[in-house]
Amino acid sequence: MTGPAAVKTDHQRFFVVDFGSQYAQLIARRVRELGCFAEMVMPHDLESRLDEAQGVIFSGSPWSAYDDEAPRVAAAIYDRGVPILGICYGMQLTTHLLGGTVEKATAREYGPARIEVTGEDSVLFAGLDTELDVWMSHGDRVEALPEGFVSIAKTHNAPFAATRHVDKPIYGVQFHPEVTHTPFGTQILRNFLYGVCDAAGDWTMRSFVEEACEKIAAEVGQDEQVICGLSGGVDSTVAAILIHKAIGDRLTCIFVDNGLLRQGEAQQVLDTFRNKYAIPLIFADAGKQFLDALAGVTDPEIKRKRIGHEFVEVFKHHAKDVENAAWLAQGTLYPDVVESQSAFGGASVTIKTHHNVGGLPEELGFKLLEPFRALFKDEVRAIGRELGVPPEFVERQPFPGPGLGVRIAGEVTPERVAVLQEADAIVREEIERDGHHKKLWQYFGVLAPVKTVGVMGDERTYENVLAVRAVESTDAMTADWADLPREVLGRISNRIINEVRGVNRVVYDISTKPPATIEWE
Ligand code: XMP
Repeated sequence: MTGPAAVKTDHQRFFVVDFGSQYAQLIARRVRELGCFAEMVMPHDLESRLDEAQGVIFSGSPWSAYDDEAPRVAAAIYDRGVPILGICYGMQLTTHLLGGTVEKATAREYGPARIEVTGEDSVLFAGLDTELDVWMSHGDRVEALPEGFVSIAKTHNAPFAATRHVDKPIYGVQFHPEVTHTPFGTQILRNFLYGVCDAAGDWTMRSFVEEACEKIAAEVGQDEQVICGLSGGVDSTVAAILIHKAIGDRLTCIFVDNGLLRQGEAQQVLDTFRNKYAIPLIFADAGKQFLDALAGVTDPEIKRKRIGHEFVEVFKHHAKDVENAAWLAQGTLYPDVVESQSAFGGASVTIKTHHNVGGLPEELGFKLLEPFRALFKDEVRAIGRELGVPPEFVERQPFPGPGLGVRIAGEVTPERVAVLQEADAIVREEIERDGHHKKLWQYFGVLAPVKTVGVMGDERTYENVLAVRAVESTDAMTADWADLPREVLGRISNRIINEVRGVNRVVYDISTKPPATIEWE
């Protein structure tokens, strides 16, 4: 299996070698936040591409370095003079490959630990105290160092918490500097990049915008049109504004209102694109068509498929009206590219059919324009800010392609959509009121497929149940329900039951992912 195709860039490149750690992409994000362009590389591709790298970081791994099947790199790479920092398994692998000893630890070290910097190092821990809190997660440990290596930090039960070679730029840390639980981890990574690798810090979002505009302008012919499907989400919004900056009116956006958007969302997209940016926009007001296709459907997968199918039909219909359309812009992000090609990472099973426009470019004969293929979501947000995109788009929480269709459990009818839109707007408003949303990944309302009995005034009611879902997460792969203050939940409940006709009960979803998912369907 091959790794992701090399990313084109004129910047200094840092490789993050992915040994299958859940944190591999996080390492790359941290490196980028520190102003250096990081690319994910598979272990077997490293040796042939090493000359391109200014420095290399090895990720952790679920494997043991001494396992026969464990992912490895060629030992020859350590003689090439390119700086290497091994994290956890990365350090153990270096130790193992160069003749040291790695063994199963008698006790797994997981969670917070304290290291003592032992004074042998000048660079990696520069500017830091001699005692540091770090985050550990390992079952193996280094028992003996290879020749030429020294310990530069220890914990009370591990003599080799960090190591370095005496005269080559090879470092290792047993802990995880990339996670926020290691408070000075960013400084340690910065020290490696700027102190060991001599980084130029030439990766900024401003430089990305300038270069991306030049590339797009050079790629798209003078007589060609680019079509961009807008969803109202961050990626497609920022992509459209960037492309418009590059080629002006040779971009036409298509915005499909599937009738399953949040309250006021369609109007917000129209106002922004037509009035603020004056970007040519085709508005497909297709709510009725989507809701007709969903009539009587309760199975979540069938719903998703029908919504996806209608979307393609509506999009194709309108794309035909754009003369000289040759390109389709998509907001594909780096994690999508990495996960679809990684040998170790990425979900291999479809848990839910995700709604996208896959297959459309070939069918319509379009070339693909994907300006964010090398970027993480945080970087797209930073570009949005750089381009002056309004905060309500840039800071917007993720919203699934099938929209409220997967937040209405049971049948989707125009009446139920209206109830959810109204209730969901209250959920969002109350959570945002005191800034509680800032630490949340997503927060929204869900309409449950049951009715329950209530009493209002002196009358018995028999109405819908509205569930509030609010989760914390860093990547949506795992999530925890948010511990929202009682007053916030109380206000949400009171307002919904008083203001939204058709709801007489509000519940709070306290399920983590896994085993639940973030969305209900
Ligand atoms: P789940 O429900 O699988 O969701 O825990 C994980 C994340 O993915 C979003 N999501 C989708 N996004 N099309 C999308 O573009 C979809 O079909 C879709 N389904 C779920 C969800 O909102 C969460 O952030």
